[in-house]
Amino acid sequence: MKALVLAGGAGTRLRPITHTSAKQLVPVANKPILFYGLEQIRDAGITEVVLVVGDTFPEIEAAVGDGTALGIDVTYVHQAQPLGLAHAVLTAADALGGDDFVMFLGDNLIEGGITELVECFRRDRPAAQLLLKRVEDPSRFGVAVLGSDGSVERLEEKPTDPPSDLALVGVYLFTPAILDAARRIEPSWRGELEITDAIQQLLDHGATVTASIVEGWWLDTGKKDELLEANRTVLASLGRRIDGEVDGDSQVVGNVVVEAGARLIRSIVRGPAVIGAGTVLEEVFVGPFTSIADDCRLTRCELEYSVVLDRCVICDVPRLEGSLLGRDVHVTRTERRPAAHRLLLGDHAQVEIAEGG
Ligand code: DAU
Repeated sequence: MKALVLAGGAGTRLRPITHTSAKQLVPVANKPILFYGLEQIRDAGITEVVLVVGDTFPEIEAAVGDGTALGIDVTYVHQAQPLGLAHAVLTAADALGGDDFVMFLGDNLIEGGITELVECFRRDRPAAQLLLKRVEDPSRFGVAVLGSDGSVERLEEKPTDPPSDLALVGVYLFTPAILDAARRIEPSWRGELEITDAIQQLLDHGATVTASIVEGWWLDTGKKDELLEANRTVLASLGRRIDGEVDGDSQVVGNVVVEAGARLIRSIVRGPAVIGAGTVLEEVFVGPFTSIADDCRLTRCELEYSVVLDRCVICDVPRLEGSLLGRDVHVTRTERRPAAHRLLLGDHAQVEIAEGG
């Protein structure tokens, strides 16, 4: 059995972060989202991974390489355009070599791994085995309708009037029958070959499609608030490890990771939180559910419930929360006159200035 991991696509919803980088590499608790899935695949005993990539191939290849560091063996397949999940499957057909496979969407995070799912699939070998989760806003997802006996009756992609609250989670198990089904479908209203339609084809041809409902958390990290929530959820199970330097005037409270080479000077970090290698905090308060990546410099500021990527500089800013900062972002205070906010923001950036701020 192989794994097919999808890390192509445009990532428009996480702009501007994903103008310049792959959405699957945005970190959650300072680890790229994609790595959680790859590790869960490896932990389920699958080592042959086909990774579908698009325009951000160089960046993904730089992070994942041949997979050795993660204990997997990666083959890259280039999808020239993000024409849909079923299109990605067809693009990878040769690399899959007629094997069964688990398809894992590179921007999805699920609790507890996929080992049991893979075992269940190996035992029963349906044409497709799906994972569902009850959600409040099903119209953003593929949606399943189950019969009274729990069997899958039909599927719809992003319905405006959702027939149920059961969303398709981005982990699917397939036999090669999905390839023929994908060849039979037409592009949807959004111009994509939908995997949901290909699975519906399997159902229409009488193939067995099974589904189980996940009780643990599932996070689709497509938007800022979802990413912050994913970060909160993953940090909640963090341990404590202090490899960096904490001076005598600093306090590290609760489950906090301070990576080697990080320095805390007269600062307080209240966990769960992670402070990346080479990051220096001076007279800073870091509140719960915050991840600060590598080589950042924070001085006289307060930050909570936020994700900060590499090499950011934050200085003399009273309080930031619910924020996502991309790489090399500078947020500083100025005494220049006239006293005004001066912004240099990329396309699709969002700034909320507090009253009196
Ligand atoms: O997250 C679960 C949802 O994922 C399911 O409920 C939906 O049924 C399914 O269609 C999918 O919906 P999204 O619209 O959220 O998929 P997205 O475009 O975000 O792509 C998911 C991943 O697959 C992402 O890592 C990018 C990658 N991708 C996407 C497309 C369209 C590719 O590699 N190639 C593609 O052509």
